[in-house]
Amino acid sequence: MIHANLLLNIMKTKQEKKYDLLGNYYEIIQKNTQESSKTKRTRRELSFVKRLISRYFPRRKTIRILDIACGSGRHLVPLVKDGYKVDGIDISREMLKSLSKKLDKEYDAEIIHGDMRIKRLERRYNFAYSFFNTLAEMTKDIDDAKNVLMNIKRCLRKGGILLLDTENPRRYLYKIDFTLKGKEGDIEAQQHFKTIEYQDVSGLLCLREHLRVKRGGKKIEDRVIDNTYKWWTADELHLLFEACGYKNIKIAGDDYRVDRTPKSSKRILIVGQV
Ligand SMILES: C[S@@+](CC[C@H](N)C(=O)[O-])C[C@H]1O[C@@H](n2cnc3c(N)ncnc32)[C@H](O)[C@@H]1O
Repeated sequence: MIHANLLLNIMKTKQEKKYDLLGNYYEIIQKNTQESSKTKRTRRELSFVKRLISRYFPRRKTIRILDIACGSGRHLVPLVKDGYKVDGIDISREMLKSLSKKLDKEYDAEIIHGDMRIKRLERRYNFAYSFFNTLAEMTKDIDDAKNVLMNIKRCLRKGGILLLDTENPRRYLYKIDFTLKGKEGDIEAQQHFKTIEYQDVSGLLCLREHLRVKRGGKKIEDRVIDNTYKWWTADELHLLFEACGYKNIKIAGDDYRVDRTPKSSKRILIVGQV
């Protein structure tokens, strides 16, 4: 019988490979889109994080924060520069390399390479967050999701808070078809996303991601990656949080107000306490 950790190690390679490949071009592709650090959406996400922190932790700058699947540091970097103590974990070394370039050594941030489904972290945190559909990236079924949520719970202090952000599958997953592109120096990179199949009942999305990169007009990368993701609904997330022992569960939508349910909202932000 294959040991569960060994199986996860085999499974992780696809995500790791994808982001290691993307890592070099991620910033270029995302630069002109709503996902970059300077944009309104990131600013709103950061202010939501800060609002939650000041609501739950009066001595806000002494708390220790974990950015799960931190990528190239869209949230971690501005928070650390603003005086927060934030560590980041991500499965892709290339994404972490791109993050590390943005941080000087004097900043109080530990950058950890690892798979959040299995990595045992040494530190304990007051607040953990994860933005941009990372649960869908990390999980394909309930067992996977429970692994992640229990692992996060293990590294949270008593009273600690978890915030997860994901796209609402009820809104538009079955018809994804768009391209992100960017340019930096002589590099032109673009990524096309297209739904191959979306099963509404199971929430499983099979997505084709096509990366094309040119240097000085010459093609240097042309790679198609098909991936299956489990997209969680607000109700499923609520049940998962409950099953894993999170309390005081609250859900917010596009307007970042925790007292509203996001039926027609594009995003779901779920908060739970241990
Ligand atoms: C869409 S990006 C989001 C990055 C960042 N959170 C943001 O909002 O910009 C997803 C990230 O999840 C990471 N990731 C995927 N599976 C992971 C896992 N099992 N454990 C840790 N990180 C993972 C990827 O390497 C990638 O950096």
